[in-house]
Amino acid sequence: MLVLGIETTCDETACAVVRDGREILSNVIASQIDLHAPYGGVVPELACRSHIDLLPSVLKESLAQADLSIQDLDLISVAHGPGLIGALLIGLNMAKGLSLGANKPLIGVNHIEAHLYAPFMQTEIPLPTLGLVISGGHTALVVIEKIGCHRLIGQTQDDAIGEAFDKVAKLLGLPYPGGPEIEKLALEGDPLRYPFKMGKLKNRPYDFSFSGLKTAVLYLVKGQNCSKGSPLIISEADKKDVAASFQRAAFSDIVSKSLLVAKEHQCKSIVIGGGVSNNRNLRERFAEQDSFPVFWPEKGLSLDNGAMIAGLGYHHYLLRGSDSLDLQALPRIPL
Ligand code: KG4
Ligand code: ZN
Repeated sequence: MLVLGIETTCDETACAVVRDGREILSNVIASQIDLHAPYGGVVPELACRSHIDLLPSVLKESLAQADLSIQDLDLISVAHGPGLIGALLIGLNMAKGLSLGANKPLIGVNHIEAHLYAPFMQTEIPLPTLGLVISGGHTALVVIEKIGCHRLIGQTQDDAIGEAFDKVAKLLGLPYPGGPEIEKLALEGDPLRYPFKMGKLKNRPYDFSFSGLKTAVLYLVKGQNCSKGSPLIISEADKKDVAASFQRAAFSDIVSKSLLVAKEHQCKSIVIGGGVSNNRNLRERFAEQDSFPVFWPEKGLSLDNGAMIAGLGYHHYLLRGSDSLDLQALPRIPL
């Protein structure tokens, strides 16, 4: 079955063609990072306009690379949430237009669930597995019984982990997106210099809170009584230790909660999805344990992409059939 996947949830315009949920025939991603970088974060209005400009050519390129026409496709899969409402609508309307015009079934998938599906495209993963989502907008732990069926166990109550990386990077004067910049800076820093502590949530042992950690970094680098434009009160060398210490605190929490939930739910493995999974230090932290095999997305599948949308759409179509043209864009769809 040949499935087209369309992804426009945030700042990547992406289309891919995937056969039977796994075989990637094309995976075209147009990143808008350079467009948003001067503003230190994604500007929704610019993202929407850029999706409109880029989507037709990204679609054409994905079909050309797969050597297919729209008529050859069997299903149109689209990420219909969560994400920026204007951005979602552009991908969704393109998907609906293609579905209607070419008379192909349409299916909407959850973008976050698709991040967790990405590693399933590369290899067999023993089930049940503990799914850890670590992206710019989400941090969540789910138990996946089978593809398309999962239970939410814990999630962030404030900032997502990627968002915390981006905000701390901004505080330190680093460019957007901040995650890779913090990782780079942390390589030369002392992770034990600043004993940052993670927020604890009463009676919610598997939930996350990153806003306290971010505030602790703010007070350290700008002082307790700082205001928005206050200058940094630490040296360039200290910045490296802040990055390393922040990263240590955030990842210790992620790793320990993942292992705890995986044990409690008798999972046979751990699968990780979302942009923060690119971080080498996190991969090393998980490699220090041998209780569970850990599965990571490959490079082209870790950031936002159409292949994971096409792949997951295939499974949902087999499980529940297609969606109607009334399919809605859902900026806050739960996992
Ligand atoms: O999954 P993603 O592409 O977009 C969302 O769906 O949110 O993730 C983007 C996030 C950004 O916050 C970015 O800073 C973070 O992933 N990120 C990283 C790294 N690479 C990307 N965070 C830490 N270390 C990295 N190497
Ligand atoms: Zn994403």
